[in-house]
Amino acid sequence: MKGELLYEGKAKKVFVVEGDEKSLVLSYKNDATAFNGKKKASFIGKGKYNNLITAKIFDYLHSKGIATHFQKSLNETEQLVTKTAIIPVEVVVRNVAAGSITKRLGMKEKTVFSPALVELFYKDDDLGDPLINDEHARILANVDPFELEQMKEAARAINEHLLAFFETVNLQLADFKLEFGKDVEGNLLLADEISPDTCRLWDMETGEKMDKDVFREDIGDLIETYDAILQRLEAVK
Ligand code: TMP
Repeated sequence: MKGELLYEGKAKKVFVVEGDEKSLVLSYKNDATAFNGKKKASFIGKGKYNNLITAKIFDYLHSKGIATHFQKSLNETEQLVTKTAIIPVEVVVRNVAAGSITKRLGMKEKTVFSPALVELFYKDDDLGDPLINDEHARILANVDPFELEQMKEAARAINEHLLAFFETVNLQLADFKLEFGKDVEGNLLLADEISPDTCRLWDMETGEKMDKDVFREDIGDLIETYDAILQRLEAVK
């Protein structure tokens, strides 16, 4: 079923599916990178955690009527998704200040954004994924204002669903990154992954960081952290 390798990114490989032109296989790697690939490591089991956690979250979003590329898990590290042309714009939603915004704009960590702050970044490793505005997105990524509005609206709706979802497992969703793609019919679908690699999750009682910041900041064991996230999500009915 799994055909040739189409693309290899920092955290996943993408394979064609023989006999099914509308689908792809995503294979989650054990590699972790941070700071635009400047910091690198590999953790046995990481691919499994991000595959299974993404599957849980996308299933939940489907139950809320959000259109995503996710079809099903195939095994511990692979999932079948609908093929899309990825729009090279990363949509970051921030509920509280953390990470790059604290450095870029001097905002104090934990400053609350209500309503949530939506930022756009141009997905280009050579440029280090720079912050862009709507007009840059129109020119660089060829997204028209209507599509961009659709992406931002979807991102806000997804934020509301994810805030509620993570709250049930005692996690505060500080921020996260989304990517969207267009399927062969031109439908806009949520794509890529939603995992502790792409979210900031803080324990609601202790404030403990339970995401890739443990690797970025060398403050904990990545596999133990991701395992704790999966265990909490698996307890959700
Ligand atoms: P930032 O604070 O570094 O801008 O990150 C904001 C959120 O986006 C955080 O939850 C991590 C996530 N993110 C990615 O998923 N991929 C990336 O390449 C970057 C820079 C951030």
